[in-house]
Amino acid sequence: MSRSEASRSQASRSQASVTVRVPAKVNVQLAVGAARPDGFHDLANVFLAVGLYDEVTVTPAEELRVTCTGPDAGQVPLDRTNLAARAALALAARHGRSPDVHIHIAKDIPVAGGMAGGSADGAAALVACDALWGTDASRAELLDICAELGSDVPFSLVGGAALGTGRGELLTPLEVGGTFHWVFAMAHRGLSTPAVFREFDRLGEGTEIPEPVASRPLLDALAKGDPDALAAAVSNDLQPAALSLFPELSATLAAGRAAGALAALVSGSGPTTAFLARDAASAAGVAEALRTSGTCRTVRTAQAPAPGATVRG
Ligand code: C5P
Repeated sequence: MSRSEASRSQASRSQASVTVRVPAKVNVQLAVGAARPDGFHDLANVFLAVGLYDEVTVTPAEELRVTCTGPDAGQVPLDRTNLAARAALALAARHGRSPDVHIHIAKDIPVAGGMAGGSADGAAALVACDALWGTDASRAELLDICAELGSDVPFSLVGGAALGTGRGELLTPLEVGGTFHWVFAMAHRGLSTPAVFREFDRLGEGTEIPEPVASRPLLDALAKGDPDALAAAVSNDLQPAALSLFPELSATLAAGRAAGALAALVSGSGPTTAFLARDAASAAGVAEALRTSGTCRTVRTAQAPAPGATVRG
């Protein structure tokens, strides 16, 4: 069966609707260069997909519309600024067809949290519409549309682990030699990614910002599946900017470290904080300590790596 036949048969099996599951991410290294003329920053961005998922379902409809359920649903835009709607519009425009689908997002990834939840929904909607419509877009075309939608969207499509260069959209897959156990603490409010990059620029004014380069020890630690080595190598150049805008995050990081986390860092542009644990039992202990610390809104545990956007069978 060809890919398009498989996509179409998938769509008909599920009563002309397609559901795609898509993971969140944590950046185990985020090296940020100086601002470019286009306002973006060159990155050496080591993405790791983690097992917290949104599920996006697309169904033929009279017109394009977006609905969302989940704990943070109230914060999700339901208009055409939603990356899931933009993904449907982009694929439809390229293939000269109507974008009229109902996109439902069952949201479990925190909103405005630095875990690429919006990007995940964009990648998921793209894969779902491709399957529903039988457009049979190539992987290269899907990745191209993802890069147009946002810097983190291509990684949501591929999952696993990857080095993102350029503004983060040029991906090189990375080997991961084991399972990593993570704890995530969600904050009481969100942070805007552009605001965090602006703060990075402000804090770096007058200093020489080095070219971003991936850390060899970090890539080796991922390849070996070694949590101690990974903990020693994680870094996030956006962390000082996120802490400058959201100083209370220091208390969350300290609470996780005190509970035995091997590493504690801000996830991407934040404000979600990420804690690497040695094993599942240790992760459960760190999670419990964070829950009772009073320094965060909710706490989740998740394993990595996780697969990218996948049609549910
Ligand atoms: O690509 P995306 O739309 O996700 O980026 C959101 C914002 O984050 C950009 O408008 C920019 O302010 C900032 N950004 C950046 N450099 C990157 C990625 C994002 O400055 N490499």
